[in-house]
Amino acid sequence: MFDKYKREINYLRISVTDRCNLRCVYCMPQEGVELLDHKDILTFDEIVEVTKAAVRKGVDKVRITGGEPLVRKAIVELVTMIGKIEGIKDLSITTNAIILSSFAKDLAKAGVNRVNISLDTMNPEKYKQITRGGDIQKVFEGIEAAKKAGLKPIKINCVIKESKYEPDAKAVSIFCKENDLHIRYITEMNLEKGEFSVVQGGSGGDCESCNRIRLTANGNIKPCLFSDIAFNVRELGAERAIDLAIGNKPQSGHENHTGKFYNIGG
Ligand code: 5AD
Ligand code: SF4
Repeated sequence: MFDKYKREINYLRISVTDRCNLRCVYCMPQEGVELLDHKDILTFDEIVEVTKAAVRKGVDKVRITGGEPLVRKAIVELVTMIGKIEGIKDLSITTNAIILSSFAKDLAKAGVNRVNISLDTMNPEKYKQITRGGDIQKVFEGIEAAKKAGLKPIKINCVIKESKYEPDAKAVSIFCKENDLHIRYITEMNLEKGEFSVVQGGSGGDCESCNRIRLTANGNIKPCLFSDIAFNVRELGAERAIDLAIGNKPQSGHENHTGKFYNIGG
């Protein structure tokens, strides 16, 4: 389906939970955040219904995000259900990889083609500091498991302050070269100030060619990460919520006061 600006919308990003097992400094406050009410979180059946409706409207690319998607209970079951939907050519997942080693094989079996993994530094202490307690070793184990499971390509999301030549980013880049991983640099954003930036080496943030819509864990279809516009699938039904989201997709986004990455999934 095309939007008003003749952009073909073929990419659905599904946030399956607003929970996360890390507390990255640029994403969440130390004490965590107010979580969605359990009753507001879409069930697996509802997520599948929305995904099917999106596929009927031309979506052939689906990404599972969070929060941290792997902390959603029975995530493999959900991914298996999504993997069975005919018409999806590309099924991927964005994860911090902390618990990926126990899931990689099952995810591949469920139909996941590839993974994006967040890693901003190679230094275990710094990693612990950025993520407020994360164990970088687990990430390396997750990456290994993803490779073994045949998930390909593995992309590394590396958040930078300003430049990809910062020492941490350079170290991650070397690690990626040595391990056949693709690196993408994401400039740290302050969403409260409405800052946003283009993903270097990725397609995010480029409004002119934006092909995506998002489904939040509580059933809002959002046409743009940087806008407050949302249409709830429980209130409107999946079809209508998707139509309205695509029909109201802004030419370019500037403002978002409701969203942080943990509830819209990056
Ligand atoms: N600025 C840039 N990237 C962010 N992410 C989360 N919060 C921010 C922010 N404020 C990124 C993570 C991860 C993806 C899910 O979103 O690093 O790669
Ligand atoms: Fe969790 Fe990702 Fe936010 Fe870090 S950036 S706290 S891993 S959702």
